Amino acid sequence: MEYINKILSGDTIEVMKKIPDKTFDFCFADPPYFMQIENGKKLYRVEGTEFNGCNDDWDKFKNMEAYKNFTIEWLSQVKRLLKDNGTICVISGMQSIYEIGSILRELGFWVINDIIWQKSNPTPNFSGSRLNNSHETLIWASKSKNSKFTFNYKTGKALNNGKQMGSIWNFPVCSGNERLKDEDNKKVHTTQKPESLLHRIIVLFTKPNDLVLDPFGGTMTTAAVAKKAGRNYTMIERDEYYIKYGSKRLENIKPVITNIEKAVYDIKPKKVSMEEMIKNNYFIIGEPFYHKNGESCILKTPNGYVEYNGEIKSMHEIASKMMNRKRRVNAFDYLYVMRDGKLISIDEIRNNYRKTIE
Ligand SMILES: C[S@@+](CC[C@H](N)C(=O)[O-])C[C@H]1O[C@@H](n2cnc3c(N)ncnc32)[C@H](O)[C@@H]1O
Repeated sequence: MEYINKILSGDTIEVMKKIPDKTFDFCFADPPYFMQIENGKKLYRVEGTEFNGCNDDWDKFKNMEAYKNFTIEWLSQVKRLLKDNGTICVISGMQSIYEIGSILRELGFWVINDIIWQKSNPTPNFSGSRLNNSHETLIWASKSKNSKFTFNYKTGKALNNGKQMGSIWNFPVCSGNERLKDEDNKKVHTTQKPESLLHRIIVLFTKPNDLVLDPFGGTMTTAAVAKKAGRNYTMIERDEYYIKYGSKRLENIKPVITNIEKAVYDIKPKKVSMEEMIKNNYFIIGEPFYHKNGESCILKTPNGYVEYNGEIKSMHEIASKMMNRKRRVNAFDYLYVMRDGKLISIDEIRNNYRKTIE
């Protein structure tokens, strides 16, 4: 079965069963929330017009037991399909996020973060009988506790004006031109998610060219964002009506790739050893390494050990001693050498060497 950059039509569990183990790097899942809206109950805005919320057949289950069994089945398939270092991000509301979280843990997923999507334009509570429900929750979890998962930390900082990205995200619900409409100008789907939310998820939790699974495709928001951001996708949906409009949506999407989508801030620099830098005369045995607090040590051995107060140890250990730090520091962040009468950071020297071997 072909599944890369495809929309697969059918029941999600049956379709997933046909895909080989450990296929996907990441899964975004926006499953039925089991909203449990009473049969026939309509919601009206304050001015009297009917509010068309999510009361679709696909969101209905006989009872919570049936919903939990369905959740166990699809999450088990996702677990099988994720690579060992893969992660999943599931979204839901208060109606079912607690059950989903508990099942994730029972299946052996490892919860990394939960994220609050705070809606800047939530649907009001029309009756005024309780708090306005103005957020949804996302659970981000790895396949297991040992997964070495992708997290583009520095990309998150770049998106957040240089500050660590937090776990409360503010985005408006999907509206305006982004909302898919049919020929009669009626919205195609009641729960289309905003691209801004998916974009943040995809650029933080995946690498360029990763393969992303969405087992509940709907209007194909995940695929639209994945395609724009230079990732691959597999979408599953059983409703041909959604597939029709979702496919059309994807035809018009062109990639928009900036440093954020490329995750350039998170690309790890090439590893180089002191030994090779000494061999290539970037550092000279016998020369001093200085700290800005006035302390210094001497480069002693071909593998980069230094002498300080009569002991010869790794430069990281010695740098920590020079600074009276109990935790080991990275000497490249603190030590300098003298070049043409000026102090130059040993990290800068290492970067100069890296440029010669790229
Ligand atoms: C919450 S919506 C996803 C909306 C989507 N994220 C978007 O932005 O348009 C859930 C979707 O899952 C689909 N669905 C529900 N149960 C399914 C099943 N067992 N197999 C395949 N699709 C299913 C529904 O038809 C619905 O479109």
